[in-house]
Amino acid sequence: MSIKPNQPTWPVWLPLRDELRTLTPYGAPQIHDVVQLNSNENPFKLPDEVQAAIVKEIKEVAASLNRYPDRDAVRLRSKLAQYVNSASNTEFSVENIWAANGSNEILQTLFLACGGSKRSALGFTPSYSVHPLIAKITGTQWIEGKRSSTFGIDIQLATAQILAEKPSLIFVATPNNPSGTSTPLSDLELLADAASKVGALLVVDEAYAEFSSEQSAATLIAKFPHVVSSRTMSKAFAFAGVRVGYLIAHPSVIDAALVTRLPYHLSALTQSAAEVAVDHANLMQSGIQELLSGRELLVRGIELVGWKALDSSANFILFSGFTRSSNEIWQEFLNRGILIRDVGLAGYLRVSVGTKAENQRFLTALQEIAQ
Ligand SMILES: Cc1ncc(COP(=O)(O)O)c(C=O)c1O
Repeated sequence: MSIKPNQPTWPVWLPLRDELRTLTPYGAPQIHDVVQLNSNENPFKLPDEVQAAIVKEIKEVAASLNRYPDRDAVRLRSKLAQYVNSASNTEFSVENIWAANGSNEILQTLFLACGGSKRSALGFTPSYSVHPLIAKITGTQWIEGKRSSTFGIDIQLATAQILAEKPSLIFVATPNNPSGTSTPLSDLELLADAASKVGALLVVDEAYAEFSSEQSAATLIAKFPHVVSSRTMSKAFAFAGVRVGYLIAHPSVIDAALVTRLPYHLSALTQSAAEVAVDHANLMQSGIQELLSGRELLVRGIELVGWKALDSSANFILFSGFTRSSNEIWQEFLNRGILIRDVGLAGYLRVSVGTKAENQRFLTALQEIAQ
């Protein structure tokens, strides 16, 4: 089965920008009749109570779908502020929160506001590949900082690179995708210091924050107004299908997002469903403990066959130690009905934590493949 996206062939009449001609559409394969452990989704269905509350809310909203939604999603943003405050002991209000269609749109908004031609963005790879992709799409020069062989960030090297390159945007994903490793808050403070010296925004991509025991970078904003945290409801909230991400930031950054956003970008359906989900945050996140236990189980299973699993603070594990190519091993799993992720790092593969049954399917396949 070939599921790699093909490189499009562009017709001569299409005035596509030169720098986009070699790109293929971003995306992991979406195959439905397999165990899907490739997109770091939350494997648990929405609790019945939340499903019912969403249906009830949407039924009410349906009558006024002839009208545009609240352009600035004030009610949802206020609820998200309360959610963040109760999780991180902060004092944010609606002025500190921006909401959009997934955190990918949050990231794009930041690029639109602070990137563009004559600007650069720095990230530490391997990390979330959408950061350099949006840089390219927005005409922002991408500067690649490197992570160590254990996927950490050498803060001295990173600081020197920030001071030398003077980027407008600096990206740190923590927990990092694909490694699952996290950057301590004390290191983020040092990066924030360096960022302030060159007038950069430090964007901490915290898509997996709820799986980690580290304090959120949102707690740094009171001291460092140029630090922002990009969050999502796609992972711990088990809400990937609705597409809701949010930004926690100083009000001036939120104002910049307001200037940059498309009018009425967040549909009335999305806003009302997300409000219900945030109201039921505890219930929505009730699977986290089970996912953390599942993570331990998978790590042990990977190590039992003599392979290596990276220490993960997220709902996925990057593993290595197999002697055949990543692509061959990935295919072996797929042949057994299990879709994991070849993240393009030679010698590594990534698996998302699934339900108990899905984890067991992975472990059974693993034992066969590693023989
Ligand atoms: C590090 C990181 N940031 C952001 C995202 C985007 O998530 P979403 O657009 O679903 O909020 C992902 C998705 O996998 C991710 O891994």
